[in-house]
Amino acid sequence: MNVTLSNNTVIPAIGLGTWKSSSEDAYNAVLNALEAGYRHIDTAMIYGNEEAIGKAIKDSKIPREQLFVTTKLWNTDQGYETALKAFDLSLSKLGLEYVDLYLIHWFKGYEKQMASWKALETIYKSGKAKSIGVSNHNVHHIENILKNCEIKPMVNQVETHITLQNVFLHEFCESNGIVLEAYAPLMSWMIPDLLKNETMITLAEKHDKTVPQIALRWLNQRGIVAIPKSVNKDRIAQNIDLFDFELSKEDMDLLFTLNTGKKLFTDMDNVPY
Ligand SMILES: NC(=O)c1ccc[n+]([C@@H]2O[C@H](COP(=O)([O-])OP(=O)(O)OC[C@H]3O[C@@H](n4cnc5c(N)ncnc54)[C@H](OP(=O)(O)O)[C@@H]3O)[C@@H](O)[C@H]2O)c1
Repeated sequence: MNVTLSNNTVIPAIGLGTWKSSSEDAYNAVLNALEAGYRHIDTAMIYGNEEAIGKAIKDSKIPREQLFVTTKLWNTDQGYETALKAFDLSLSKLGLEYVDLYLIHWFKGYEKQMASWKALETIYKSGKAKSIGVSNHNVHHIENILKNCEIKPMVNQVETHITLQNVFLHEFCESNGIVLEAYAPLMSWMIPDLLKNETMITLAEKHDKTVPQIALRWLNQRGIVAIPKSVNKDRIAQNIDLFDFELSKEDMDLLFTLNTGKKLFTDMDNVPY
């Protein structure tokens, strides 16, 4: 299942997350994911595993054009020249000639944001990033880019899961042709809370699926791309085995009642790093 971006490129609806995956774990996870049918891998300069991921991609022997690889510009590299340099370094660590998506990792003020965005536009025009976008951007952050850009962001990657549903941000992104991408779709380190949620368990039993599969399918049916992380072969396979069942409107509505609005990750306006 794919989602089409505003520039008509396609992004696979499920990708493999790799935050906190060591190089060795990331290497194996990517190979296991590709074997399980994933074609989308999410990394970032700050994860420190770009080299291992690039090696796994190469060793898989899957043609490059069949893969979708995302990496991100780290906060301390924001700025025009620094972003161009950081991008080249990521590309060489990955051992790739282009990435499919390059994102500004966090919002660090309007000045740095626009200098970085100009660099992403330059990179996009060079063909070395097939799509560009942002991460951890709220409505007012995106509005500033829309007001000042030449090329609009195609993706916004933000924390999104069953208790932080981002209904309004999703609506805003959709109305501006920006695809929402959910990070921490399984609630990250709080996954034990997800797994023991009674509503989730009831729906999992109803559909003969696991709780993570219900959580991911719910995002998928909202048109949101999700990048669950796992380093476990069986769980990697489980997290993409989502397309043989469908949540009904009643199921979806029930899941919408689980929103608490509580954020697990850093406030997008107060990033201390
Ligand atoms: N842009 C950003 O600022 C940002 C921030 C955070 C994350 N991200 C991206 O989004 C990805 C996903 O977020 P995340 O890694 O924080 O959290 P997540 O994908 O919501 O959850 C990962 C946790 O769930 C476990 N897990 C995965 N599948 C499972 C399953 N089927 N059953 C039981 N447990 C399962 C994993 O353990 P095992 O590995 O042991 O399976 C891991 O502990 C990241 O890896 C990263 O690529 C981006």
